[in-house]
Amino acid sequence: MNVSARRALAAALTALMLTVAGCAAPDSGLQAARRHLTGRGPITFVEASDESGTASKQVIDAWNKLHPDQPVTLKQFSDVNELHDNLVQHFKAKDSGYDVLGADVVTIAEYAAHRWLQPFDGAYTMDTSPLLKQTVATAEYRGTLYAAPFMTDAGLLYYRKDLIPRPPRTWQELLADCGVAREHHMGCYAGQFAKYEGLTVNVAEAVAAAGGGFLKSDGTTPSADTPAARKGLSLLVDAYRDGDIPKEGITYEEEESRQAFEAGKLLFLRNWSYVYPLANSDGGSVVKGRFGVTTLPGVDGPGRTTLGGQDNAVNVYSVHKATARDFLAYLQSPKVQRKLLIEEGQSPVLASLYHDPSLLHDPALGYLRTLEQSITTATERPMTPFYPAVTQAISENAYAAIKGDKSTDKALRDIQAAILAATSQQ
Ligand code: GLC
Repeated sequence: MNVSARRALAAALTALMLTVAGCAAPDSGLQAARRHLTGRGPITFVEASDESGTASKQVIDAWNKLHPDQPVTLKQFSDVNELHDNLVQHFKAKDSGYDVLGADVVTIAEYAAHRWLQPFDGAYTMDTSPLLKQTVATAEYRGTLYAAPFMTDAGLLYYRKDLIPRPPRTWQELLADCGVAREHHMGCYAGQFAKYEGLTVNVAEAVAAAGGGFLKSDGTTPSADTPAARKGLSLLVDAYRDGDIPKEGITYEEEESRQAFEAGKLLFLRNWSYVYPLANSDGGSVVKGRFGVTTLPGVDGPGRTTLGGQDNAVNVYSVHKATARDFLAYLQSPKVQRKLLIEEGQSPVLASLYHDPSLLHDPALGYLRTLEQSITTATERPMTPFYPAVTQAISENAYAAIKGDKSTDKALRDIQAAILAATSQQ
């Protein structure tokens, strides 16, 4: 049998096993949520791969040394979309193979609505009082907690402090600084504009900068076809058309944009906090000690980030839920949260770390106050069980508008229609 035939057979067998598992398990999520709450034993933790370093693996090794009969096996996927699709397959099959899953905050509503996540209520609770309340909100669905916030994420504006005396507070001020970029033959501004989840983040932030959003607070009524959304998306469309966002910016995800900034090709960069330690330490970075961070620009004043991050949840079909919950609490402990902050620039969910004098005075963490400010004024991407369809509509239409293939008005009308179609499945 050749390689592709073997692969096809393996895929067919996996699909069959998942189907058989699905048929064999009569439980609904509701029934499964009452089972195995005190179960202990080995667990598997799945998440999207962590490109930023080895600290997460060390954290798991340390747990495994302390809990030899309840070890954690880590399984990583290369990106959040791949992880999402794999998880959905496993959930549908009521598979108990994954115990803990690291979910992008935007996926909680979808998983919870399907009852695929073990709720933290009744005999199975979790103390959220030490956590930033914004992060707890990302883990709730219809008033119930379905996940344990692990790491949060806020967009920051990185700027070249050696070239700009005062960082911009508004888009207008930022664009006015683009002359400095031209003088130095560098690009002015980049974020993440490739067609994927990061583009939804950047577009949602531009719309929030103009005071808008894609969904009203009822979670179902679209508000994409509005003057505020038009103003917000136009910021990106115009900046790309005018060359203030460099042409190659349309291909950037987080990593490509970080590399461009580190190579001295950008005056301004929108990215998450993990860039801060890397841009100050990477061998190839020419901007070490030459950049600062501030909050994202708005239209009439400071802007707002959309909150990112990872919430860890327990698969409702897991049979080792007591171990899973202890492991989640361990990941929220001051020791682990501190280590991931210091070694990987990950944004903690533990509120106390943002006021810890030893961290606030650490020059390597010079962005901590700005980060806290960004988190406390953050907005959310649409919170809806139909998020996959909503985000696809936003990223595909915004991408076409930024590239100049579709007018801003038409893109927003199409987003509005797609959100309406997705959310009226309820
Ligand atoms: C980061 C954020 C996540 C977001 C993703 C987009 O990983 O934590 O919430 O969806 O970036 O690329």
